[in-house]
Amino acid sequence: MCPAHRAMTESKANIALIGFMGAGKTTTGRILAHTLNMGFFDFDLEIEKATGIGLPEIFATRGESGFRQLEHEICKNIPFMQNYVIATGGGIVLNPENMALLRQSCTIIYLPASPETIHARLAENNSRPLLAEGDKLAKIRDLLSQREHLYRQYADFILHLDDSHNACQHTRW
Ligand code: S3P
Repeated sequence: MCPAHRAMTESKANIALIGFMGAGKTTTGRILAHTLNMGFFDFDLEIEKATGIGLPEIFATRGESGFRQLEHEICKNIPFMQNYVIATGGGIVLNPENMALLRQSCTIIYLPASPETIHARLAENNSRPLLAEGDKLAKIRDLLSQREHLYRQYADFILHLDDSHNACQHTRW
């Protein structure tokens, strides 16, 4: 077992994936969960299940702050979960309380992606209310520049999926 795999599976009960919209958290999370024989938990899906409506409707009726409150409520369950790979929403890092809750039981992995990669992946996708109107690439650049330091700050590992870096880099080694 490689040191990264050992650290991920032995030190904390769960693995949480963080990163911008379109970074690959859900896809990677499903693969990791299957490979490591862990459960898979998707924040956005859980919020939709809890409310019975889709994210665009939640944003339309409750605004971003209403959505963030729901996201925070889900976070409160994470310290009690075991053996899950968790795909978070891209804005989870905006609330330090969320990250303190995640840290209690999760090894946190950041999946970076460039604005261009994200834009290409989401070009035909209108499921993200924060990117729904206006110049999508400009919005991605703007939001990512506000969040990038937070993703890096909270990451135990950075997993590079879209370039030629070492695939897995531990932020504290
Ligand atoms: C958001 C990301 C989305 C979803 C919501 C807000 C964000 O999740 O939680 O639209 O603020 O970045 P994904 O990162 O899974 O797209």
